Amino acid sequence: MDERPIGVFDSGVGGLTVLHECLVTLPHEDFVYLGDGARLPYGPRPLGELRRFAREIGLFLEAQGVKLVVVACNSATAAALPELQTELRVPVVGVIAPEAHAAVQATRNRRIGLLATQATVSSGRYEELVRALDAGADVLSVACPRLVPLIEGDDPFAEETAAAVREYAAPLKEAGVDTVILGCTHYPLIRPILQRVFGREVTLVFSAEETAREVAETLARKQIENDPAREGAYRFLTTGDVDGFRAMGRRFLQLPIENVEHVEIATLEAAAA
Ligand code: DGL
Repeated sequence: MDERPIGVFDSGVGGLTVLHECLVTLPHEDFVYLGDGARLPYGPRPLGELRRFAREIGLFLEAQGVKLVVVACNSATAAALPELQTELRVPVVGVIAPEAHAAVQATRNRRIGLLATQATVSSGRYEELVRALDAGADVLSVACPRLVPLIEGDDPFAEETAAAVREYAAPLKEAGVDTVILGCTHYPLIRPILQRVFGREVTLVFSAEETAREVAETLARKQIENDPAREGAYRFLTTGDVDGFRAMGRRFLQLPIENVEHVEIATLEAAAA
């Protein structure tokens, strides 16, 4: 029996899509979720800077006593997964490999679209992983810089978001992809908009459920699970605005988030010093 919590992080509320699936799969585990709201969005930042942020947060969570870290952010996974796995003592699970796998399995015409942040697209990680699984599959990538700020904004379901989705989807529809990877953990929060734009014949792939399964398998293999009879507890931390996080978290996760703790960037930096 291992009573330590699981650490989960993202730039903002997108990682809550992954946390949700973890809560469904592992209701008996405790979780600490950190949203790096003060430095959101991650997408336009250089990969080197994201590696630094991910390292700070990974080491901070490790210092909080977590037994596993979930990088619930595609941009941070694309930039920093190998480095985190090398540096942290606890297991680290990312969100890109499960999606690449699911997309290769889902596509029938071997034309796969990717919607993601600029950082994730420029890392080339999805192409690499898809090609390793099926050298004959094509990946067409579109960076969507407006989506995360819109989703984290005042009115995520407004016409402006739908218009941005239509614009980003156009080249993928034109190319006849039959599968689209939602390569950013924020995007499943506007899944109905995306599904309406692409239609029923296009399969939307996202990794939250697969990631939760990988977390469960890792805990089981390493024999670091908590008591299955107990009920888990959650802690929410943000470097950004506490009230804004609580409101958005409640809306998207439909979970009564009571207490959100503020963490200073300097505290994260100190954890990595
Ligand atoms: N949820 C993050 C991701 O998966 C969003 C990145 C951002 O803040 O731009 O990439």
